[in-house]
Amino acid sequence: MTEENSPVPQHIAIIMDGNGRWAKQRHQPRFMGHRAGVKAVENIIKHCVEREVSVLSLFAFSSENWKRPTKEVSLLMELFSVALKQQVKRLHKNNIRLNVIGDIGKFSNSLQKQIRQSEQITENNTGLQVNIAANYGGRWDITQSVQALAEKVKNGKLNPEDITEENISEGLSTSDVPEPDLFIRTGGEQRVSNFLLWQLAYTEFFFTDTLWPDFDSKGLDTAISSFSDRERRYGKTSEQVQGVEDA
Ligand code: IPE
Ligand code: IPE
Ligand code: MG
Repeated sequence: MTEENSPVPQHIAIIMDGNGRWAKQRHQPRFMGHRAGVKAVENIIKHCVEREVSVLSLFAFSSENWKRPTKEVSLLMELFSVALKQQVKRLHKNNIRLNVIGDIGKFSNSLQKQIRQSEQITENNTGLQVNIAANYGGRWDITQSVQALAEKVKNGKLNPEDITEENISEGLSTSDVPEPDLFIRTGGEQRVSNFLLWQLAYTEFFFTDTLWPDFDSKGLDTAISSFSDRERRYGKTSEQVQGVEDA
């Protein structure tokens, strides 16, 4: 089996959707769903460590989520801060590296500081890397990478024809990790909602109706097992991938 077709995904990216509906089903405010969602995050991180996944990227807050009611946005910010405070020690103890991706300059100064500190505490850890996508948008990510290249062109350090897929990739916020092998979206919607657009080019997709707070180790195992049954061809024929070429 080639590395490209390994049974366990090295990088899993998840759109954690369905918190609001989970709360609504229980006649609770949406915020309670987000709170329950944090518990699910804890669980899924633990399970990724057990399954020896290398990178877990979680979509926590999109560039578009600012459009939500002000009250919900501010509660989400508060929850993010509280969760960071509560979880960092445990993550560090478990050799997990925490990394926040997204345009964090839009957050309050204190939250930005807290994010940077949490990243610093865990930066030398060698176990699972957890990327939290906060104020993240796939289009933002590509734009900021291309802007950096344009700056180099402007300063005469790069020719326009030397703009390549490789150097665009190198400028993305996930340039330190391989592209996701498996993409999971909970909550029943089947769309990408501006998550890792560039990086998902050859990722395997898995959708489930399970609402995020209910997503557990069993659900993750189902997704991993679906992934391991697939043949990733990257444009080639099945025969080529299996090494039995017949033209
Ligand atoms: C995902 O759950 C969490 C965030 C976007 C912050 P939602 O809040 O989108 O839950 P639904 O989709 O309304 O159920
Ligand atoms: C995507 O969920 C963003 C996160 C889970 C953070 P949304 O609930 O915001 O996506 P749409 O609006 O249904 O596409
Ligand atoms: Mg949603």
